[in-house]
Amino acid sequence: MEKKNINWSELGFGYTPTDYRFMAEWKDGSWDEGALISDSNVTISECAGVLQYAQTCFEGLKAYTQKDGSIVTFRPDLNAERLQRSARRLLIPEISTEMFLRALDETVKANAAWVPPYGTGATLYVRPFLFGSGPILGVAPAPYFQFRLFCSPVGPYFKGGIKPIRICISDYDRAAPHGTGDIKAGLNYAMSLYAGDLAHKNGFSENMFLDAATRTYVEETGGANFLFVTKDGKIVTPKSSTILPSITRRSLVYVAEKYLGIEVIERPVPFEEVSEFSEVGVCGTAAVISPVGEIDDHGRKIMVPSGMDQFGPVLGKLRETLTGIQNGDIEAPEGWIRKIC
Ligand code: PLP
Ligand code: COI
Repeated sequence: MEKKNINWSELGFGYTPTDYRFMAEWKDGSWDEGALISDSNVTISECAGVLQYAQTCFEGLKAYTQKDGSIVTFRPDLNAERLQRSARRLLIPEISTEMFLRALDETVKANAAWVPPYGTGATLYVRPFLFGSGPILGVAPAPYFQFRLFCSPVGPYFKGGIKPIRICISDYDRAAPHGTGDIKAGLNYAMSLYAGDLAHKNGFSENMFLDAATRTYVEETGGANFLFVTKDGKIVTPKSSTILPSITRRSLVYVAEKYLGIEVIERPVPFEEVSEFSEVGVCGTAAVISPVGEIDDHGRKIMVPSGMDQFGPVLGKLRETLTGIQNGDIEAPEGWIRKIC
């Protein structure tokens, strides 16, 4: 199979439509079988639940080319599970794990020419999503729904690749107590746009959101969880019921403990403690692990000791080990890698 003519190592994190995507419809109480289609456009009612009341949730995962040329995905069963949780909270009919994995396998396989080659640093980002496609005027769930899954070849999420980023404390909240912060609802991201735009205008790559109730604990960024390293080399990661349970973070906790012998502590992290850490990073599917070099608290600058030039040693090693597992250079724990073709 001949790969597309793309300068893979120059890719940023953007949308490039590929040849195929998967689409299924829910009507009269059940999902149809679904199928691959080539049209990248969606035609729905002007009064669709997704357009009027944001009834939509999504997932994000990646396909990788390993050294031997095989194409794999990383723990997609956990994305299926999380999409089911998000759907339940938004009164969207769930997709079974079996159907999710079938859509994933078929779409990635059909787009194999778009999966970046091994060693380019690029990957195929996969975006499954569910939305209310039927019309609804009173506030209620839509009468019918679509499940879609498309993909796009991508490079690093943050401009400048994996150089340390500067972030700032947001004056806006991302998620309310007992709200939707722990699911991947489109509305959470719409809510974060204004704060994200402000951060960018002020020269920061991302916001650090604090807990909405007390504004004293670290939550997460708009699209990634936090990892901190203590001066004595332990990893601390925020525990909160209003952040997204990142699959990357959960995997890194295991990799740190089992592969690298690093102690990991999951607990609430007061913002006041942040200046005491020796390394700070954000983690997620899109971000992988990106180092944070500076945190701005309304003009008070916290300079992370690992600096603005490079990864600190602990998070650097963690990133190397995780990407090694995803690329097939390091043996993965049982069940983490799903071979597609
Ligand atoms: N937090 C938020 C708000 C996100 O959007 C994401 C991205 O999916 C993450 C964390 C990281 O989650 P994961 O590692 O499962 O991609
Ligand atoms: C991801 O990491 O998959 C995300 O969804 C984060 C962002 C692109 C929304």
